[in-house]
Amino acid sequence: MPVILGIESSCDDTAAAVIRDGKLLANIVAGQEVHKQWGGVIPELASRAHQQNIVPVIDQTLQQAGILPCEIDAIAFTRGPGLLGSLLVGASFAKGFALALGKPLIEVNHMHAHILAHFIDDGSAKENPEFPFLCLTVSGGHTQLVRVDDYKTFSILGETIDDAAGETFDKTAKILGLPYPGGPLVDKLAKEGNPNAYKFPIAQIPGLDFSFSGLKTSVLYFVRDEMEKDAAFLEKNISNVCASVQFTIVKTLLQRVEQAMAKTGLKQIALAGGVSANSGLRLSLQELGKKNNWKVFIPPFEYCTDNAAMIAMNGYFKFSKNDFVGQDIAPLARLTL
Ligand code: KG4
Ligand code: ZN
Repeated sequence: MPVILGIESSCDDTAAAVIRDGKLLANIVAGQEVHKQWGGVIPELASRAHQQNIVPVIDQTLQQAGILPCEIDAIAFTRGPGLLGSLLVGASFAKGFALALGKPLIEVNHMHAHILAHFIDDGSAKENPEFPFLCLTVSGGHTQLVRVDDYKTFSILGETIDDAAGETFDKTAKILGLPYPGGPLVDKLAKEGNPNAYKFPIAQIPGLDFSFSGLKTSVLYFVRDEMEKDAAFLEKNISNVCASVQFTIVKTLLQRVEQAMAKTGLKQIALAGGVSANSGLRLSLQELGKKNNWKVFIPPFEYCTDNAAMIAMNGYFKFSKNDFVGQDIAPLARLTL
């Protein structure tokens, strides 16, 4: 009955979770309001906020789980990728706590954790993907098509050569004057708009890679030109712009998914990362899955964006293989898949 404490601090969410014998007992995420006024995450402010939040978040998580520190069997933490100052807070806390409790440490790759979030067991009835499967990981920093052969064998089949899908949502929101993080707001406004109102380009690049920087630039120039003609353009048409940009991002992503599924012959496709909360992407992938007879796995909203349940879940897999690390472990901002 291993009890795993998971700690996540790679960007601007301080999160902790407890998994006992593979079952989620508590999962707490503290966001950071401080970045809103700057229109993006300020690394220095993020690490300071983690420093303030980490002890109360872990305290509350253990209380909610009904677990005493002495009952913890291992501590799993995010080693990277992420903002170094943010990662250092979680990693240093995990190392100190493990040392004090005399328990092993488990390092977790944040991108593996997003994918393995599909295996979180919170008591709700759901089917898990079976290895091997294809995963489209779409977050603020990453856009990757990954073949997953087991809990530690991941191969990147394609990835973005410039901006990530989440970044494209957030930058579009910024151009439209919406606050950070803009992805959920673009999604909300898109529901009231026409996805075919405006046409934006889909980058034509070889292989299974993605490119979003052209789309971002084209949205910037389009809005600038329309505003020059009519200063009230955005006021009248913001929903149509959101729906059209979202349609283009989703179409770009799903084109590659279809190609990767055909190339690998896989029949299961999973979504992971913050952008998998996008309602347009969720719906379109379900429809594409039906058309192609694939099994589609979409995580519940709370496990799409950054959370520590996914870190504890990854820790649980590693615990079963005695996959521990020593106190000399250091976080890595650019840890690869
Ligand atoms: O995985 P995540 O929480 O953090 C990273 O590891 O990056 O992803 C955050 C990203 C942000 O870019 C945010 O705008 C985007 O996910 N996001 C969304 C939605 N919810 C979150 N993008 C589009 N539609 C949403 N509903
Ligand atoms: Zn993430």
